[in-house]
Amino acid sequence: MPNTIIVTREGSIATIQLNRPAVLNALNAEVLTELGDAMRDLDDDATCRCIVLTGNEKAFAAGADIKEAFVGVTPVSMLEQDLTAKWEVIRRIKTPIIAAVSGFALGGGCELAMICDIIVASETAKFGQPEINLGIIPGAGGTQRLTRAVGKWVANELILTGRFISAQEAKDIGLVVHVYPAATWLDDAKALARTIAEKAPVAARLATEAVDVAWNAPLDAGLEFERKAFYLLFATEDKNEGVDAFINKRKPQFKGR
Ligand code: CAA
Repeated sequence: MPNTIIVTREGSIATIQLNRPAVLNALNAEVLTELGDAMRDLDDDATCRCIVLTGNEKAFAAGADIKEAFVGVTPVSMLEQDLTAKWEVIRRIKTPIIAAVSGFALGGGCELAMICDIIVASETAKFGQPEINLGIIPGAGGTQRLTRAVGKWVANELILTGRFISAQEAKDIGLVVHVYPAATWLDDAKALARTIAEKAPVAARLATEAVDVAWNAPLDAGLEFERKAFYLLFATEDKNEGVDAFINKRKPQFKGR
């Protein structure tokens, strides 16, 4: 049983809740390991079609665990511990992941949300990359993913000031997709997950993979990936099911093959 996360299943969706409330879900090596393991298990489970990653009302995650990860460490010990490898596990998950943020998503917490495929937020959420206040810079993808998400000038302003932004501002700059009421944010995120879970699973996985390629590769390579993924889907039963359901005016029943 994991110590730092709680995993629950409701039909075809899974929820992973970060569970270190005493430190606002600060991310240490144990959380990242348990998170990666849980996500890998869910990714291997064909009955899990969407994952909601969340925290509690006060915090999604307030960043790297400053007391554990940043005191008495050296570049060599950081290299040996290689936390980046733990982040990579999460990055490689193919099942669509929704980050459902309430409260603080700061530093590594904001970076964790940005690894996910969709970010939704309670109206109480606060996002930020405050590493500059510790004399460092974001180290889990923040300078890269935030810049790709919101552009150079907005990213620089956020990273250089370390200021926190509201859920609404995060939506205005394109980081957050939906801002939900504080009373219903998690239910609303799960409803979105259920909508995604009803879609054809192989197509959903290839869709998020293709969108990720758009971040990493030049347009030609991205279009090439998309073309092959598109053709591949014509070998699935779910494509026949989707097209037949459309033609016969019925709801498709996707099987993930
Ligand atoms: N690491 C370790 N402990 C943390 C933490 C963190 N990132 N964030 C909060 N905590 C702890 C606090 O130390 C406190 O513990 P104690 O009760 O034992 O003192 C507890 O959580 C509650 O926090 P506060 O009392 O500070 O709560 P608050 O509501 O007054 O303030 C906050 C909330 C503004 C989020 C404040 O806690 C804060 O600024 N946290 C640090 C945020 C931060 O700098 N994050 C970036 C970390 S660096 C990083 O993430 C690098 C990277 O790229 C991977």
